[in-house]
Amino acid sequence: MNLIICENYREMSQKAAQLAAEGIPRSKNSLISFPGGDTPLGMVEQFAGMVNAGEVDISRTRYVSLDEWIGLGPDDQGSCAWFNWTKLLQKLSKPFLEAYIINGKAEDLNVECGNLNMYIEKYGPLDLSVLGIGMNGHLGFNEDGVDFNLKAHVIPLSETTKSVMRKYFTKEHDLKYGITQGLLHIMEAKRVILIASGAHKAEILRRALRGPVDTLVPASILQNHPNLFVVADREATSAL
Ligand code: PGA
Repeated sequence: MNLIICENYREMSQKAAQLAAEGIPRSKNSLISFPGGDTPLGMVEQFAGMVNAGEVDISRTRYVSLDEWIGLGPDDQGSCAWFNWTKLLQKLSKPFLEAYIINGKAEDLNVECGNLNMYIEKYGPLDLSVLGIGMNGHLGFNEDGVDFNLKAHVIPLSETTKSVMRKYFTKEHDLKYGITQGLLHIMEAKRVILIASGAHKAEILRRALRGPVDTLVPASILQNHPNLFVVADREATSAL
């Protein structure tokens, strides 16, 4: 594991964007994934800036989103699709080769999971997976107790996720399930970058990185990843 401790959120965002850019192969088509949420906002902005400045070439890169709230789509402020479109895809003056944004409003969610798996298996494995960590240690919507061997799936939101989620939305939503890439595909990524910021993440980051590998803290599986970068600010690393 490569642990990179940054002074503050801005430095964390810059470092993560730089490591993400370096994780994109130059001489072949590639597949990458970024998370939604508050933590990646700065990283995504930096990354888009690098693309637009010609410092990173994404013309041979496919993008796949990590997860989505069941029932929400790109027009719902705070959804993952909304994040992906407004914070990343629409900011790029040079687009990805293609982007697959998970449809949380799909009529048949089994088909949506199948399509996501097919996409990752056709164009993958992921060259790069950037991840945030939830207050319960989730990665995407791989909630506490999740099976480490799952591919894409639909999962009930944990009580922790339900209590945290209000911060993303300006409207009330009654959300009970999420759809997510599974840990099986995430663990096959050639490079994983876990980002974390703020004192409120210190304890769960400690459990994820220093505690036992246990499904109760899904992010602990990353201890087994051969090419993991943890990029976090001082506050988030204060319990390590
Ligand atoms: P946050 O979410 O970046 O908004 O803290 C992290 C996550 O739940 O993955």
